[in-house]
Amino acid sequence: MSHSVEWSKAYTHRLPVNAGEPFFLRRTDISERLARELAAGELPFLNMPYREKLMDDLPLLLPRIKPFRHMVVLGIGGSALGARAIQRAFAPGQDEPNHNGPWLWIVDNVCAQSFEVLMSKLNPSDTVVVCISKSGGTIETLAQYFLAKEWLTAATGEGWKEHMIVVTDKAKGYLREEAQNYGLSSLEVPDCLGGRYSALSAVGLLPAAFLGIDWQALLDGACAVARPLTKNPASLGEHPSFAIACWAKALEEYHYSQLIFFCYIPSWAAYGLWFAQLWAESLGKNGKGTMPVPAVGVTDQHSVNQMFLDGQRDKGCLFLTSRGRPESRRFGTNLPEQWSWLAGKPFGSLLEAEALGTRMALTTNGVPLVYLDMEDAGPRSAGALMMLLEATTVFTGWLMDINPLDQPAVEMGKRLANARLGAKGYPEEDARLAAFLAALRREQAF
Ligand code: PA5
Repeated sequence: MSHSVEWSKAYTHRLPVNAGEPFFLRRTDISERLARELAAGELPFLNMPYREKLMDDLPLLLPRIKPFRHMVVLGIGGSALGARAIQRAFAPGQDEPNHNGPWLWIVDNVCAQSFEVLMSKLNPSDTVVVCISKSGGTIETLAQYFLAKEWLTAATGEGWKEHMIVVTDKAKGYLREEAQNYGLSSLEVPDCLGGRYSALSAVGLLPAAFLGIDWQALLDGACAVARPLTKNPASLGEHPSFAIACWAKALEEYHYSQLIFFCYIPSWAAYGLWFAQLWAESLGKNGKGTMPVPAVGVTDQHSVNQMFLDGQRDKGCLFLTSRGRPESRRFGTNLPEQWSWLAGKPFGSLLEAEALGTRMALTTNGVPLVYLDMEDAGPRSAGALMMLLEATTVFTGWLMDINPLDQPAVEMGKRLANARLGAKGYPEEDARLAAFLAALRREQAF
């Protein structure tokens, strides 16, 4: 048994059968670049040079955090979405009746209302706060850090340091200074490991470990997928991540503008949001890229699916299922006549049948579709999927001739927000803000 990628409906309709070939022909160049960047330590998400240290450091920290009932993660973007996907997939208890802890609260927005709810309802003595920021200088995360530090200090005095852990760069940034100044426990975000590629480092795995999730299995699954690439970059042409990258690049070339990520593993729904950020922030550059559209089966069959099926023919689809899903209870035999065909069938058979039906409908309606079928929906498989998608994203970026590891366009909004709050050193933004706010408004009341 293994995971599989099914290609029979990938190149269909407007996407010619040979549309990926020009990109596949670039495999030698791309594999040489892969070898170079691996050797230079620029792709740590792939060869995980940090793994050994993490396997030492994380277990040492665990006995300290286990006694807490609540963990509050402060982080945003890549510093939050991986942890949330892992939490929802493998520790769903918080959303289920009679949950008795532990609880993980991921604060990845600056919503004053929900932050207030957390701070007023949680007991600081029962709570460990984990502040996660690779740069150590993200305003949203630091703002929460300052408030959480005060909240802990008010309740525990100097004891606040025992309730605060930081996950950040090993040497640079404000959070690292805080860790050094106050002797806070900390874990490292390795060099060159950008937020959206960092879920399988301390960033995603510390919260996972707190919840009792098998974090080593996540790493094992990821390593198994990465190994052929890291051991022998020249074998790139045989790796599914490169084949999917060639297909994704072909989609773009033929003016498909959206990439649906249709997840028929309901407990993995939050992986759609993780993937959306990975894909969008990595590939939306220079007027290029396909817009990721996360969707969850079967819920979204009754929502956005009509648009997928009969809207503009500008969508490709990554379609995800897993084998070995729980069948759950069976329907009785005393069903009304018109539903009697369900009698004796397990509830779980609905998901399988509806996934098949939707997959066929999509391909019949002109949506080129790559079908990923996971061996099971356990943590090892999730690690494998994450690695596959991360590698696919990087190779797609290289085929697009853009840098998939940066995100320059998002800086402008951040700088303007800082200027708006009175930060020093933004003269240009100050002037632009003033002009923007002074411009004539064309308002309409409703
Ligand atoms: O993926 C990324 O690089 C970003 O989304 C970052 O994760 C996000 O901006 C938060 O950055 P940091 O971890 O430095 O606080």
